[in-house]
Amino acid sequence: MIGKLNHVAIAVRDVTKAAEVYHRVFGAQVSDPMPQPEHGVTTVFITLPNTKIELLEPLGQASPIARFLERNPDGGIHHVCYEVDDIEIARDRLKAQGARVLGDGHAKMGAHGKPVLFLHPKDFCGTLIELEQA
Ligand code: CO
Repeated sequence: MIGKLNHVAIAVRDVTKAAEVYHRVFGAQVSDPMPQPEHGVTTVFITLPNTKIELLEPLGQASPIARFLERNPDGGIHHVCYEVDDIEIARDRLKAQGARVLGDGHAKMGAHGKPVLFLHPKDFCGTLIELEQA
C-alpha cells in the first residue's frame, strides 16, 4: 500500500531564510514561498533528485505548526509524506487496523492539489504522517 516518499516537511520560523540556506549552501532548486491560508502555512518546496523537502512557516493565528515551533524553536522535522494509490482505500485499511486519522477523517486538498490525510504520530513511531494520493 505504501508508495514513494513524496516529501519530508521541516517547520521553520522563516521560509525565505531557510530556502536561502538550501539554495546557497546546498545549491538546491527551491520554489518561491507560497502562502496557503487554508492550511495555515507558507510553503517552499525544495526539489531533490528522489524526493522533495517542504519548508513550512506558520501563517495566521491558528497555524497547525505554531505549537511545534514553540517546542522546537530552531525548527525541526514536522512530518513525512508517503504516496498511496487511493487515499480512501488506504484510510479505510489503516482505520481497520486501529490507526487514527486526524481531523474529520476526510481527505483534504493538499499543497500539490492532491488529496491528503494525516495520521496520528502515536500510532507511527512518534512521527506525524501525511498520506498523499499519487
Ligand atoms: Co506535507
